[in-house]
Amino acid sequence: MEIMKNVFCIKAIDWDIENFHGYSTPFGTSYNAYLIKGEKNILIDTAKYYCEFDFFEKLQNLIGSEKIDFVISNHSEMDHSGLIEKVIERSDATLVCSPKGKENLEKHFHNKSWKIITVENGQILSLGNTTFQFFLTPMVHWPDSMCTYLIDKKILFSSDAFGQHFACTEFFADQVGSDIIFREARKYYANIVNPYGTAVRKVLEAIGNLDIEMILPAHGTIWRNMRDIKNIIEKYEAWASNRPGEKVLIVYETMWGSTRKMAEKCYVEAVKNNYNAEMFNLGVRDISDIVAEMPEARIVLFGSSILHGQILPKMAGLLTYLAGLRFEKRKAWTFGSYGWARLSFNGFETLVKEAGFEMPYSGFYVQFVPDERALQILGEQLNSKILTV
Ligand code: FEO
Repeated sequence: MEIMKNVFCIKAIDWDIENFHGYSTPFGTSYNAYLIKGEKNILIDTAKYYCEFDFFEKLQNLIGSEKIDFVISNHSEMDHSGLIEKVIERSDATLVCSPKGKENLEKHFHNKSWKIITVENGQILSLGNTTFQFFLTPMVHWPDSMCTYLIDKKILFSSDAFGQHFACTEFFADQVGSDIIFREARKYYANIVNPYGTAVRKVLEAIGNLDIEMILPAHGTIWRNMRDIKNIIEKYEAWASNRPGEKVLIVYETMWGSTRKMAEKCYVEAVKNNYNAEMFNLGVRDISDIVAEMPEARIVLFGSSILHGQILPKMAGLLTYLAGLRFEKRKAWTFGSYGWARLSFNGFETLVKEAGFEMPYSGFYVQFVPDERALQILGEQLNSKILTV
């Protein structure tokens, strides 16, 4: 697909992927490589190894008997570098990457004979009649990551930044629908990029002075509409600040329905207090869907039953995952039902605090099944400790 004169998107679509290193991807994803034709043929990134057929078929249709002269690797993670070795073997192309990218790719492919040009932050480089500027973007999403700006066309190849895991035949975000694509972009940011907010702010500063007419990410759809470009940059600024949102999230895992009753009481109280409240039952929802809502959360209420002296395993998995994602400035409270091991909730509260939440009060726990009185007390405590302060 020609995105702009002599700039093509080679979109290897991964229709089947349901889990991207722990992140649920019910809509699949795509690995977007880009070809710039000119005095030199320049490829930006490749695709995951098992998309070989799709990728090379599309590349071949675009270049015919010509060869690739340069491969720019914005990011060495294997979803984008998986076919670099095969591209270089076929065409003897020169690799262009960041110094960290060189280190990583040499350790991935163990091939020391490649011709490699490393680029520094802000460096301008002409390859044939095409001139690029490179911006190193460490930790967005790996230490090696960089963005590539095609100067004369004012387009930014942003690598993982501004991407979405969303498989579709359309190429542009505005063809799919902004609500869907912004929601998937938020899920992507929350699950992949959130720990690196400081790094994201540096990237935004670096590209802040660029005249950008199109953002071409390495996953999902392309941002070409100026309103969408402005919006997604503003969203990244807001997400990178780790500011809490306005929602109350009620996240629970239940054995026999008692913790569920408590979750429902929490929901009713939150709605009564005019919060936009959402419920997530970990028995049926993936942890990455809950993380997707975390940028919008002001308060998170975690509920679990106790099994073998521990909270339930999906809740423990969520809290471990959240500890790595480093959301900040959100308040939390806990609730749950137990049989005989009430003290096990001490560990629950510790995990919630270690996941970065502010939890000024101990939670509310009930033995076996909560009766009306217990639910009333739960509501009163929730109001006085969390919702109305
Ligand atoms: Fe899409 Fe960090 O790779």
